[in-house]
Amino acid sequence: MRAFRLNGAAEPLKLVTETDPQPGKGEVLVDLKAATLNYRDLIVKEGRYGGDQRDDLIPLSDGAGIISAVGQGVSADRVGERVAIGFMPKWTEGPFTAAKQADALGGGYVDGVLAEKIVVPATGVVTLPDDWSFSEGAAYPCAGVTAWNCLFGGRGVRPGETVLVEGTGGVSTFALQFAKSVGARVIATSSSPEKAARVRELGAEEVIDYVKTPDWGSRAAEIAGGEGVDHVVEVGGSGTINQALEAVRPGGEVALVGVLTGFGGEVNTGAILMKAIYVRGVYVGSVADLSEAIRSGIRPIIDKVFSFEQADAAFERLKSGAHRGKVGIEIGQ
Ligand SMILES: NC(=O)c1ccc[n+]([C@@H]2O[C@H](COP(=O)([O-])OP(=O)(O)OC[C@H]3O[C@@H](n4cnc5c(N)ncnc54)[C@H](OP(=O)(O)O)[C@@H]3O)[C@@H](O)[C@H]2O)c1
Repeated sequence: MRAFRLNGAAEPLKLVTETDPQPGKGEVLVDLKAATLNYRDLIVKEGRYGGDQRDDLIPLSDGAGIISAVGQGVSADRVGERVAIGFMPKWTEGPFTAAKQADALGGGYVDGVLAEKIVVPATGVVTLPDDWSFSEGAAYPCAGVTAWNCLFGGRGVRPGETVLVEGTGGVSTFALQFAKSVGARVIATSSSPEKAARVRELGAEEVIDYVKTPDWGSRAAEIAGGEGVDHVVEVGGSGTINQALEAVRPGGEVALVGVLTGFGGEVNTGAILMKAIYVRGVYVGSVADLSEAIRSGIRPIIDKVFSFEQADAAFERLKSGAHRGKVGIEIGQ
């Protein structure tokens, strides 16, 4: 099979030809057809993800394809099934653990999906709806599941509540779509008027320019009315968390997922305490979450799809910040 491997932070990916992997007991071989990129993939490529990492890793966590062979104990009927692969294929359901995190694809020492084939546990994949493209399926494993977990993995967003989503990237766009699908109001932030217009088309009631309005947290609370927004999907990290805490109402929830502006930083712990805010860290989700998220039927917003040979250009597209929704790569099509 052909695969791309990391080749140094500033270097193009290295195209290699390797022996096809073979499925063992309880595993399936998936012929990959599409992958999508996440911000995590950029920082993995640049060696900034944290923790130990193999230098020549096959990158990318999010893939979809067709089961082409099965190992012992897996029904041969599954050959031909169109599937999306879980971000942590061994986390089928139940509580999150460090061991499950260590199995996340495309990071640490675990090869990812920027290859023509991959072997994963048979329980680590989810069947795709017949009319979905592989790119749509590949949009879900990290960004879709994370957004799903943010909105429904905690106290659960209810109809009529207000959700604040930050920016117009993969996670935030999914969160906007999921929130609208259950009848919630959505306020978004964006640095780009063009992207703001597209986000309004998707149902955002108001879009605040977070560059022109540095105190966008109070503005979001004002728009929400009452005591503030019920729920924040916090993707910014150290540069945005205090605005998120400003926006949320007493007793509301901040789902903490992102690090776009960095890790660490000074957090207004007083606000968390005085407003009794529920701050919940989210690390993607399980294969069961992937299944539920896909069953929502929400079709992902795909920004641009590159060919396999243009994998480096896909990374550049994500890095440019010009994208809205998911950047994809077609494989073996
Ligand atoms: N914990 C988890 O399980 C998990 C899972 C997935 C992702 N994440 C993290 O979540 C974050 C978002 O990931 P993604 O894949 O959705 O990224 P992405 O697609 O690259 O989205 C980036 C978008 O965020 C917006 N943005 C950038 N700086 C911002 C700021 N200071 N304030 C508000 N918005 C800002 C920009 O929107 P505009 O261009 O509209 O301004 C940009 O397009 C990343 O930090 C990623 O590592 C975490």
